[in-house]
Parts: sequence; structure tokens; C-alpha cells
Amino acid sequence: MAVALLVAAGRGERLCASGPKAFVTVAGRPLYAWSLDALRAAPSVSEVVVAVPEGVEAPGGVAGGASRSESVRNALAAAPAAEDVVLVHDAARPLVTVELIEACVAGLEGFDAVVAATPVTDTVKEAVDGIVSRTLDRRALWSVQTPQVFRRPMLERVLSQPAEVLAAATDDAGLVEAFGGRVGIVPAPPENLKVTTPVDLRLAELLLRRRDANHVGGVDGTHIS
Ligand code: C5P
Repeated sequence: MAVALLVAAGRGERLCASGPKAFVTVAGRPLYAWSLDALRAAPSVSEVVVAVPEGVEAPGGVAGGASRSESVRNALAAAPAAEDVVLVHDAARPLVTVELIEACVAGLEGFDAVVAATPVTDTVKEAVDGIVSRTLDRRALWSVQTPQVFRRPMLERVLSQPAEVLAAATDDAGLVEAFGGRVGIVPAPPENLKVTTPVDLRLAELLLRRRDANHVGGVDGTHIS
């Protein structure tokens, strides 16, 4: 069994919303509620701790930190010590499924951490001041998402580093790699998108409404196809 940390304490400035990103309404509910439901429905998740922005109340919520990894650290400190496996998920990915959560937990066997990821479909180039310096080999590239699953002692060790190290990390698995840990990939479906811009929000809204319609026979009695 695993304890899940749902990080929802970001400001989401790129979304241009009036409040914190995880609390904007998408398909009729706060953004974070969609992944909270999936985590609660996952058989291998025993408990969910949510990192929320300062001053926001949410069930099972603890105050987040100044950076994403600091929010993870705060949520981990509030998580029951009984579980040795910790799953971290971004509230900004509302389309996560129970199947993906289970695949990530099961995939930890033989690794210090595993990350959900999709193969990169664009060609990726490195450029400095608008001039291309090299083209990367796409066959070896993965776009990394959450869920990310960790062995608790390793996650605690990497998150005990100074705030400036945590602030520079874009994900926690990167901290494990820097520590020499073995990190595995769990292939994820392309729908597991991250809501960053208003366009992402529109797409997530469409996909969530369609999923809801398929599950309960129509939000308003109609099916979207
Ligand atoms: O900013 P970005 O979309 O990469 O954030 C990823 C996730 O981390 C979001 O769910 C966001 O709420 C969370 N986060 C956090 N605390 C922060 C910054 C981001 O919980 N200080």
C-alpha cells in the first residue's frame, strides 16, 4: 500500500485565473477534486494528503511550500509513517486514472522511484539566443508527468536538502537521479495532460465531461463523442 501526496499549492500564474490553479472550476468541480477522487478510488492507496496554498481549506489539507518540492516535503511530513511507498501527484493533472496509479505503484519493484511518462512526439532542439546548437535523439526522450512513486526513505533523504536545491527541481524524481537513485519509466496515456495554460484548461474540460458522460450516462443526459 502507498500513501499519496496531492500537490495543489501552486499559484498557476500561467493560467491567468483569479485564484490558485488547483481550485479553478473545471467540468463543474475544483481542478484538484478530479485527481483526489482517482487517488481515493485506487486500491493500493491507503490515504491522501493534499498540499494546499496558505489560507485555503481542503479535506486532508496541509499548507504547501514556496516551491513544488517544498510542498511535497510538507505533505510527506504529515503522512502516516506506516506506509513505505509514497506516491506524488500534481493536482494540475486531473485526468489521471486508477489504472495509471496502480501501474505506477506496481512498477516500483526494482527501482528507487518510477515516473509516469509519454514518448516525446516533437523533435526537440537545444537553442541559445534563438540559434540551434543541437538536435536531440527523439527515440530516447520521454515527457515526464505524475504520478511519481518513491521508496519513502529515499524521498525523505532528497527532500531534506536546502530550500534552494528543492526550488531548482522541476520534479522529485530528478532529485533522486541526482542522488544516484535508479528511476524507472511507466508509460502513461496521452490524456494525462497538465493544465498550465487556458488552452489546456479547455481541453481538460472537454475530456473530463466526456469521461463523466461515459461513466454516468451523461452529465445532462447527452453524450459527447
Ligand atoms: O507549476 P506547475 O504546474 O509545474 O506545478 C505542478 C504542481 O505542483 C501543481 O499541481 C501545483 O499546484 C503544485 N505546486 C505546489 N506548490 C508550489 C508550486 C506548485 O503544490 N509551491
